[in-house]
Amino acid sequence: MEESHGPEELLSVGEMSRRTGVAVSALHYYEEFGLIASGRTAGNQRRYPRHMLRRVALVSVAKRLGIPLQDVKEAFADVPLSSTPRHEDWQRASRRWKKVLERRRRGIEQLEKELTGCIGCGCLSMKACSLLNPDDELGDSGTGARRIPV
Ligand code: FES
Repeated sequence: MEESHGPEELLSVGEMSRRTGVAVSALHYYEEFGLIASGRTAGNQRRYPRHMLRRVALVSVAKRLGIPLQDVKEAFADVPLSSTPRHEDWQRASRRWKKVLERRRRGIEQLEKELTGCIGCGCLSMKACSLLNPDDELGDSGTGARRIPV
């Protein structure tokens, strides 16, 4: 981390876990995945600046909504990890986040449309059913069962 913090501004991984309700192992994973970052003490213990609490809170909300971590990472792309984000950084992230949510909403609406049609149909045709075989992905691989390993 580039920015220097006084000791009172930094949180241990245990404090982060307690304050966010996120397991220590998940915090380690988020860090490995690049969603959060920490500095190290002389004894090689993680210390998180307080602004990481906001990131973890947003990741938790995203998880509750079923949004993949990769999408969250995309939304956070312009929010600095190594210094306290400015209001404008979060505004930019918010706009990106809105686009990600919009894309997901459209995907869910499309799926809902296809599912509703298929429930009423029930043919499960590999040729006609876009839910079972989207864009006829299996059409080029020949006839017969394609998904059952022999
Ligand atoms: S089940 Fe018939 S089109 Fe999907």
